Amino acid sequence: MKIIGTGSALPALTVTNDDLAGFLDTNDQWITTRTGIQERHLLSTEDLYDLAVDASIKAIKAAGLRPDQIDFLLVSNVANRHVTPGLSCIVQKRIGLTCAGLDINVACAGFVNALMLADGMMKAGRAKNILVLCAEEPTKYCDWHERDCSVLFGDGAGAVVLTEGNAFKDVQLTMISDRDVLYYERGMETTPFEQHYIKGQPLVMKGKELFKTAVSESAKDIQTILKRANLTHEDITYFMLHQANKRIIEGIRKIVGGPEEKYPTVIEKYGNTSSASIPILLDEMLADNKIKAGDKIVMSAFGAGFVSAACLWEWEF
Ligand code: UT7
Repeated sequence: MKIIGTGSALPALTVTNDDLAGFLDTNDQWITTRTGIQERHLLSTEDLYDLAVDASIKAIKAAGLRPDQIDFLLVSNVANRHVTPGLSCIVQKRIGLTCAGLDINVACAGFVNALMLADGMMKAGRAKNILVLCAEEPTKYCDWHERDCSVLFGDGAGAVVLTEGNAFKDVQLTMISDRDVLYYERGMETTPFEQHYIKGQPLVMKGKELFKTAVSESAKDIQTILKRANLTHEDITYFMLHQANKRIIEGIRKIVGGPEEKYPTVIEKYGNTSSASIPILLDEMLADNKIKAGDKIVMSAFGAGFVSAACLWEWEF
């Protein structure tokens, strides 16, 4: 398969580190040096569904298709205010789609996992044109009285349209069951029989542990992909990594190799937008004409689970 259209959408409201320092015990210097984040976009007047629809319509237009030519919708979303129906059902009609779809939750690694599913569907002949949409509002999982998680995230959506082609070369998925490193528990209704009722609580993160696992597992996935393709970092034009922390990207770069220019970032502007971070980055790089036919691109993401995933492209337009 190959990507023939991309789109992204960010909330209108920009929140700087100084804005956060106005009500949290934090400061611009700490956030910038520890994470690379300078500002992020937060949902205020719009909702996640608006972003999801906007990014999708842009991607379909960029692909030169009509919505009714999309054969399947794959949505990556960790959580939104509806537990059911799935986000794919909620936005399908507003995008103008007539096809079926489904939601996956593989945390920040959702985009690469969705690509794996799209590739399988296409190879099985079940769909020709697939829309992959990543729409996330991680700022809604954080406790905004605490500084540990709330400074890291931003909201956003990124979408790609895939069709038949030979650009997608390989994919590597990793899952290491470790709930405690990063989790967000939603409250549920209680029953007269429930003995383990949990009210729900905001995002809990063991930052340091997660940092180390993210660097080592993402680097491992990338090295596995490179080895299988008989390539080295020198053959790769870009490593497009999940935008969780600039120091994590730097840690992966130190293991995998290559100059900083090969590891593009948008984390400065958007913070960690969960599974939307790679498609948003991709959309901006394509808009800036930074990607040429034949470029070899590695994507790699990691997140709650612990999960990680990497894939290899040889770009075709
Ligand atoms: O999408 C995947 C999800 N998330 C991640 O991948 C995140 C992975 N982890 C990280 O990115 C980093 O571990 C963090 C950015 C979360 C934290 O950076 P760190 O360098 O590991 O800092 P730390 O947690 O060790 O904290 C260092 C100090 C502490 O103070 P003391 O004990 O040294 O006095 C913290 O209390 O920084 C303090 N601190 C803050 N200070 C100002 C922690 N958060 C903040 C804050 N502002 N927001």
